[in-house]
Amino acid sequence: MHAGHELIGILDFGSQYGQLIARRVREANVYCEVLPFTTSAADLRKRTELKGLILSGGPASVTDSTSPQCDPEIFSLDVPLLGICYGMQIMTQSLGGKVEPGRSGEYGRTPIDHSSSSALLEGVPASSVVWMSHGDHVARPAEGFETVAISSTCEQAAIADPARHLYGLQFHPEVTHTEHGRRILENFLLRICGCAADWRLGSFIEEEVGRIQQQVGDARVVCGLSGGVDSAVTAALVHRAIGDRLTCLFVDNGLMRHGEIEEVESTFRDHFHVDLRVLRSAERFVEKLEGETDPERKRKIIGHVFIDVFKEEAARIEDAHFLAQGTLYPDVIESQSAHGGPSVTIKTHHNVGGLPAELGFELVEPLRDLFKDEVRRLGQELGLPETMVQRQPFPGPGLAIRILGEVTPERLRVLRNADRIVLDEIRRAGWYERVWQAFAVLLPVSTVGVMGDARTYENACVLRVVESQDGMTADWVDLPKELLARISNRIINEVDGINRVVYDVSSKPPATIEWE
Ligand code: XMP
Repeated sequence: MHAGHELIGILDFGSQYGQLIARRVREANVYCEVLPFTTSAADLRKRTELKGLILSGGPASVTDSTSPQCDPEIFSLDVPLLGICYGMQIMTQSLGGKVEPGRSGEYGRTPIDHSSSSALLEGVPASSVVWMSHGDHVARPAEGFETVAISSTCEQAAIADPARHLYGLQFHPEVTHTEHGRRILENFLLRICGCAADWRLGSFIEEEVGRIQQQVGDARVVCGLSGGVDSAVTAALVHRAIGDRLTCLFVDNGLMRHGEIEEVESTFRDHFHVDLRVLRSAERFVEKLEGETDPERKRKIIGHVFIDVFKEEAARIEDAHFLAQGTLYPDVIESQSAHGGPSVTIKTHHNVGGLPAELGFELVEPLRDLFKDEVRRLGQELGLPETMVQRQPFPGPGLAIRILGEVTPERLRVLRNADRIVLDEIRRAGWYERVWQAFAVLLPVSTVGVMGDARTYENACVLRVVESQDGMTADWVDLPKELLARISNRIINEVDGINRVVYDVSSKPPATIEWE
């Protein structure tokens, strides 16, 4: 929590756009936090840095008696409040207006008109296009409110009660389809709430360094590096704070890609002069994986061996009371989400590479207030190499879940070589930063081919390239034919053991990004 900074609170009613509101507010250089919708007015009053509140949209209907309700006292706080969609409806209902279920609802791009002088719409043309996504609508605003914008089917597209500093939008200013959404949010933040917009990553580094020093005192901190951007930025930041009292552990599980360990070593040991210990444990992992073909059991084995290796080494570090972890804000929001109920385990992602609480460390989580793009910018400011800061996600169990069936040293060699060519060509063609992930998968099937005059009988491999915002949904990328051809030719010609390359054209859902 960044005490001292002016704060915008976002009460989350389960909107699919909740995080997007937070990102937009941060983009306006205002610090914000997503809070549960149950947060009481009394608790909000304690946050003296609070400059305004935003109530998010949500999937429920306020006309339903079981819908999420907020503390009605929040409408009498001293700070301005903006209700978006469900947020506007709950404000209306709480203050005595009327919300009705819509007959057909309003979804997608919608023209609105406004001719008001409301501060909320200052600088927005009299006619513009917004993004609507609602079933219910405000039939009659509460007393004191005036209508400031309408659409052809929604008479209350925007409402305002300037005397009480209460505002409502039926549409979503946070999505890019709303033409002047950024302007509307900035009007709320800067003009109505009076925020100074001084939230910058540079000051974040200074403040966080101070906070880490205070938390850790004279003790040592252990940080597990994975090669990924989150752990790398965490380590760089903690190192800035406590220098050589940081020890980084990198578990070489033998499931990494080509050149990955060397990059971490050269960055952290040679450049930052961090006490980095690479734990060469490939054999332990591969031995335990022998004969195992079930994807979930493979993940569990890797998770367990990882914890054992990490624990053994950490126990050797004297005075190590703290563990630095790269937890990000979306994980924090997820775990406190009002609607994050139990869901079916499709893949046990988060058990792999994570460390159990019983290790007995106190956690240092300097990135827990940041989004991924902010972490990348922070990494740049801390001097991490671009290749590390812009790295695509790579799963904790590594190549093991991209080798379908049993993992063997030979199959690791084959996949590592194919994967190196994929990344090499994707980078060279300028696609690396444009896609979410690009990689090769080794299939456990042999196919017949012909090379020269000889028959070959070798494995097929899959090329998987997807675009995605967050890994939850994804689509395959329509790469140029020449690029596909180059990757395929190089793999078949250069990688001993592969004689066929196929392109995966499945979206998620119903497929997943990884094959296991
Ligand atoms: P799926 O395959 O579920 O993947 O569509 C979604 C995203 O998660 C990554 N992934 C993992 N990450 N441990 C991880 O740390 C795992 O076991 C794991 N499985 C999948 C995947 O690379 C994609 O970005």
